[in-house]
Amino acid sequence: MISIKSDNEIKLLREAGRIVYETHQYLKPFIKEGITTKKLDSLAESFIRSKGAIPSCLGYEGYPATLCTSVNEQIVHGIPGPRKLKNGDIITLDICACYKGYHGDSAWTYAVGEINDDKKYLMEHTENALYEGLAMVKPGNRIGDISNAIEEYAKKYNLGVVKELEGHGVGSNLHEDPEIPNYGKKGTGPVLKKGMVLAIEPMLTLGSPDIVILDDNWTIETEDYSPSAHFEHTVVVTDDGYEILTGV
Ligand code: MF3
Ligand code: CO
Repeated sequence: MISIKSDNEIKLLREAGRIVYETHQYLKPFIKEGITTKKLDSLAESFIRSKGAIPSCLGYEGYPATLCTSVNEQIVHGIPGPRKLKNGDIITLDICACYKGYHGDSAWTYAVGEINDDKKYLMEHTENALYEGLAMVKPGNRIGDISNAIEEYAKKYNLGVVKELEGHGVGSNLHEDPEIPNYGKKGTGPVLKKGMVLAIEPMLTLGSPDIVILDDNWTIETEDYSPSAHFEHTVVVTDDGYEILTGV
């Protein structure tokens, strides 16, 4: 069931989304060679708590941290630890926070120092793929229209679409209906309605989209070790389009 949020719920989701956005902005200057992913995680946790929110991922199905910190070939759910960022790395920070019972969810991939042109290309076109998907969000369109727009854009730029991971509804649960794959057919799937809240999140790769799960049972990376990028916003469907809750 896809829930339609009330105006009051949307207010709280907007607050949660703003806290997630502010956490990204707060962390950005720390993303430099030498910092550990664990340090980024503790900065994020303190920041989120200072805003009166709770880190949604911490304890979620046993996940042990506030952030998912996925470096280079890691696609999602990289667990923060002693790894130090190096010049030329890319790192995805996936940030989720819960404010007064409502969640915000946004992932963004960042460059550490100077990155090569391949990684720049991957990041630029994965971010663009997110906006291609968002452009389909309005009442009357279908989930498949979002999925198809992302897939077509990725294909055009020769990037791999990870099939096993997808976007989702957001509300008083971090993951709600509907599922939002990053590939699919136009005109299929649930119809979008005003008041639905969706996290749209293309995960694209420079090489093969095939994945492996590491022994920690969380970290998902590309089978061929090619770099991966991930851009995600939580949005609410409005009268004639969408409002981004996790950014500007
Ligand atoms: N934004 C991540 C997702 O949608 C949240 C992961 S929380 C975790 O999958 F606990 F599963 F890491
Ligand atoms: Co998400």
